[in-house]
Amino acid sequence: MSLLKISGLTKKFGKFTALDDVNMEVNEGEVFGFIGPNGAGKSTTIRVLLGILKATEGEVKIFGKDAWKDAVEIHKRIAYVPGDVNLWPNLSGGEVIDLFMKLRGGNHKDRRDELIQKFDLDPTKKCRTYSKGNRQKVALVAAFSLEADLYILDEPTSGLDPLMEKVFQECVLDAKKKGKSVLLSSHILSEVEKLCDRVGIIRQGEIIETGSLDELRHLTRTSLLVETKQPIANLKQLQGVHDIGEKEQALSFQVDTEELDNVMNHITSFGIVKLESAPPTLEDLFMRHYEGPGKAGGAS
Ligand SMILES: Nc1ncnc2c1ncn2[C@@H]1O[C@H](COP(=O)(O)OP(=O)(O)OP(=O)(O)O)[C@@H](O)[C@H]1O
Ligand SMILES: [Mg+2]
Repeated sequence: MSLLKISGLTKKFGKFTALDDVNMEVNEGEVFGFIGPNGAGKSTTIRVLLGILKATEGEVKIFGKDAWKDAVEIHKRIAYVPGDVNLWPNLSGGEVIDLFMKLRGGNHKDRRDELIQKFDLDPTKKCRTYSKGNRQKVALVAAFSLEADLYILDEPTSGLDPLMEKVFQECVLDAKKKGKSVLLSSHILSEVEKLCDRVGIIRQGEIIETGSLDELRHLTRTSLLVETKQPIANLKQLQGVHDIGEKEQALSFQVDTEELDNVMNHITSFGIVKLESAPPTLEDLFMRHYEGPGKAGGAS
């Protein structure tokens, strides 16, 4: 069942189109990775979801309610961690966390204490003195201490060290185990890969790919390095072959995963002497999307 549904969302700032006909769905119990390079429109989408920004066009529903009109109702069931955490400078971290808990109601002090310990946070310090990573920890502890049906996390680990990133990942998987949903924005694919059931890739305000990691893997390419007795004929003409190059006596090229079988059949007939292959990674796919031509002829 879909918990969050964005249909035809366009957001303009004056003449600038930050989001262009975005469609996206997050299902119940799912961790959805929202990835894209800087300035792609991740935070803008999230701000519309939170009812902070009004959509120029399109429909945005969370729990079947309108993200703009029913924001108050919706907020009772979501927890949010912003990308750049600003806290009240004169309150301590612990006071901020308790404030969030009080605003929401409900008593989850055990959970809070456990999280403070796991994130190795000193809750007695004034927020003004926290480092970026520690401010992020405060926001994360506050969010995961709340009982929510949907956690919206905007690049929540950009300031965390690897140890803390692991703690964060446990928190997300914990929430998932309880049947909660998570929208996790990031530009680090490896982080998303470990946690997410499905991902959406956004670039210059447009969703360019959505699907499960398996579905996206079909779009990946295997790198091959092949040396044959006779030169391989018609390699260029084969479907799914890219970036052919020469390396000493061997040929290096990339093959779309779905065409791998065909291509291998073709090259065996030329007598393989040497064969090296590198597994496809989503990172490659991702980088292709980052580097490829932009919309309207490529302004990137
Ligand atoms: N209030 C605003 N007024 C004008 N333009 C804006 C406003 N907010 C965002 N933008 C523009 O919209 C685009 C998308 O920005 P957004 O913050 O959503 O990107 P992002 O994907 O979150 O990037 P990052 O990974 O750097 O956080 C950017 O070009 C940005 O300059
Ligand atoms: Mg952002």
